[in-house]
Amino acid sequence: MRRKLIAGNWKMNKDIHETAELVNELKEHLKDFRNDLHIVICPPFTSLVVARGLIKDTPLKLGAQNMSDKEDGAYTGEISGRMLVTIGCEYVILGHSERRQYFKETNELINAKAHRAHAFGLTPIICVGETLEEREASVTDKIITTQIKGVLAQLASVDLDRCVIAYEPVWAIGTGRNATPDQANQVHRLIRKLVGQMYSWAVAERLTILYGGSVNPSNALDLLSQSDIDGALVGGASLKADSFLSIIRAGIEPSQKVFN
Ligand code: PGA
Repeated sequence: MRRKLIAGNWKMNKDIHETAELVNELKEHLKDFRNDLHIVICPPFTSLVVARGLIKDTPLKLGAQNMSDKEDGAYTGEISGRMLVTIGCEYVILGHSERRQYFKETNELINAKAHRAHAFGLTPIICVGETLEEREASVTDKIITTQIKGVLAQLASVDLDRCVIAYEPVWAIGTGRNATPDQANQVHRLIRKLVGQMYSWAVAERLTILYGGSVNPSNALDLLSQSDIDGALVGGASLKADSFLSIIRAGIEPSQKVFN
C-alpha cells in the first residue's frame, strides 16, 4: 500500500499571526479526521515553531520548504536538517522548481540535500518537472529521466521508502494551467518505471508520487483518481483553509467517513 499524501507548500507567505489563523481553521475542521492520508503543511521557516505548537494532537504534520546540504557551521542564512527535526518537522521539500530557477539549485545539490535529510531522519519531498519549452520540444521524458537519476543518485533502497517524489511541471506552477490527469499520470508512470529499473519493482510500487501545479478544488478529484498519482503538492490553494480542505477531501476514498 502506498502512502497517500497531500502537502501544502505555503512558499513565502504567512507571518506568524497568519500562520496561527490558518492552522487554527484547519484544526477546527479536522477535529474528527480519521484516515491514513498524510496531511503536511510547509510554512516558511519563521512560522514552523508557531505551527508546531498548534498542530499537536491533530492529523497535521510539519514540513519545511528547503534545507542546507551541510551538517552545520559557517553558512550564513542557511538552515540545517537537525534544526528542522528539533523543531518538529518530519518532511522537507527539496529541489522545488523555484529553488532550481531562482537559486540555481542543481540535481547534484538536491541529491546532496536528500542524503543529508535522510541522515537526520527527515522525509524529503523531492521535486522534478519540465519547463514549457522542454514540453513543447517533446523532451519531457528525457528531462525527467535526467532529474530522477540525478536527485536519487547513491540513495539506498531503504532510503527510497523514506522519499516522496513530486512531479511538478514548471509551466503548471502558479499559472492556473494544470497538467491534464492523463499527462500527469504518464509522467508518474515514467518515474515509477525509472525507480523500478534503478531499484526494484517492489520499491517503485511503494513510492509515493505527488502531482503539483495549479491543483485546486475543481481539478483535484480527477488528478487524484489516476492510477499513479498518490497525492498532491499544493501551492496557492493551500493558503486558504476551505480550498485546502476540499483538496484533502478529494484525496480520500468517497466511502470513508472523514471530517466536517
Ligand atoms: P501552485 O504551486 O499550486 O500554486 O501551482 C504548486 C507548487 O509550487 O508546489
